[in-house]
Amino acid sequence: MHDIQTAVRRRRTFAIISHPDAGKTTLTEKLLLYGGAIHLAGSVKARRAQRHATSDWMKLEQERGISVTSSVMQFEYEGFQINLLDTPGHEDFSEDTYRTLVAADSAVMLLDNRRGVEERTRQLFAVCKRRRTPIFTFVNKCDRAGTDPLRLVSDVEADLGIACYAASWPIHRDGAFVGVYDRRHGRVHLFARGEDHGATRAAEQALALDDPALHTLLGAPTHEQLAHDLALLDEAGHPFDAGAILAGDLTPVYFGSALTNFGVEPFLRDFLQLAPAPTPRESTAGLVEPTSDAFTGFVFKIQANMDPRHRDRVAFVRVCSGRYEAGMEVMHVRTRKPFRLAAPQQFLARERVAVDVAWPGDVVGVMDRGTLRIGDTLSAAGPIEFSGIPRFPPEHFARVVLTDPMRRKQLDAGLRQLTEEGAAQVFFTSATETTGPTPIVGAVGLLQFDVMLHRLQHEYGVTARLERISARYPRWITGPKAEVERVATERGRTLLYDASGAPLLLFEDEWALRWTLERERGVQFHEVAP
Ligand code: G4P
Repeated sequence: MHDIQTAVRRRRTFAIISHPDAGKTTLTEKLLLYGGAIHLAGSVKARRAQRHATSDWMKLEQERGISVTSSVMQFEYEGFQINLLDTPGHEDFSEDTYRTLVAADSAVMLLDNRRGVEERTRQLFAVCKRRRTPIFTFVNKCDRAGTDPLRLVSDVEADLGIACYAASWPIHRDGAFVGVYDRRHGRVHLFARGEDHGATRAAEQALALDDPALHTLLGAPTHEQLAHDLALLDEAGHPFDAGAILAGDLTPVYFGSALTNFGVEPFLRDFLQLAPAPTPRESTAGLVEPTSDAFTGFVFKIQANMDPRHRDRVAFVRVCSGRYEAGMEVMHVRTRKPFRLAAPQQFLARERVAVDVAWPGDVVGVMDRGTLRIGDTLSAAGPIEFSGIPRFPPEHFARVVLTDPMRRKQLDAGLRQLTEEGAAQVFFTSATETTGPTPIVGAVGLLQFDVMLHRLQHEYGVTARLERISARYPRWITGPKAEVERVATERGRTLLYDASGAPLLLFEDEWALRWTLERERGVQFHEVAP
């Protein structure tokens, strides 16, 4: 039986941000492997393939060969209780990916050693930066030649505007990756490549830099190169500063290879030491301390029909404070109604299990028949609400064209539901007429459109098709009414209204957007809904 202080201190809740193919699946597997949640790497992928056969998204998943659903993985490592929030990546990239970051206390930014910072990394980094989320960088695939590490680090700094501290440094001998130097602890970790292609943990040998054995093991040229690199880093690099890491101003950078397991365990150890335990969260009643007694939490994601046999939805609740107990009655703050947290679920690797108790930082899945919405607060501490989850601007827009115009009512009901779940954003061409002839839907990732059509058809009996709108680049617009109208009706701009009647403009290309932002000074443009 442990108290809340201990529970909070032990917890680490984080997400991995990366561009597709950087190795997120592989790294996730290795973390689960080290955490004892799986015994042989390869099983997450194997299970992912297996799930295609049973999931409700079956057809979509099978057709695309990807998984639409995502979850939370919990495991223990050296006394830490870890919640790894899975961020939908490839084609299933969606607002959920962004929202998951709001539920995390820190993020691991995974980079490919040849590609460095890529488009998706940039977008996800921007969300973290806005929230000042501490970021830990892991440069992956060091088992093969990549960009010079010094250049890679300075590219990250220039591209993302964050200072870097090289916490580890790769060691190559005769072109082969043999280990990393842990700068904080002054130790060299040498790895041996297993016979099983990284399915089990890497054999490791830790030595001090001045250990004569190291000299022999590395050979003189490698040893000299390392000493030279380290001297350069000491002189020219940013110094270690735990406060700056927690403030999101400095990212420690680690080098390794998820595939061969090299550098994964030293990274995990350091990360767990440095990453924040569940942090206080902003609410309408000020900061809520995780260690305060009364339970609070918020919904950051809703997943429909995870279990094909039920029409239930699962709302993912991030516990922010207090102790959560099964069967507990709390307040659903938006409606001020009591809400019973019946049979919540937790997730071990990719299995679901019922839980009795959860602590701050944990994520529980709550079965719900339609009461909960994204951003809702559940509270045993009175009517407080956590600062809303921002709505992230869609990257794609399309008109919804009904095949059967008589099903308009069902379409509206379906779209309302999808909007509440955060699976779609709906826009209209007029501020007052929110049931105009053709609603427009917005999505962050393209697969969201397929999911929308699929669900409209299977849950609401609506067959529709989507006509893509070429304009993208949305900006919400505020300012004096006459000015807003003038700016909005200029040629080449598309004016829409969101579900709450707030106007936004779409632009045909980045150039038109920038041109307008620079010239139209009488109004304000917002990337995220004001
Ligand atoms: P993702 O989830 O970020 O999209 O990446 P994933 O883990 O699926 O990895 C993408 C590819 O990169 C995979 O190769 C994977 O094996 C490889 N990879 C991951 N980590 C490392 C590493 O440390 N070193 C090297 N050299 N490669 C790595 P693939 O051929 O696309 O797939 P697979 O056939 O191996 O599954």
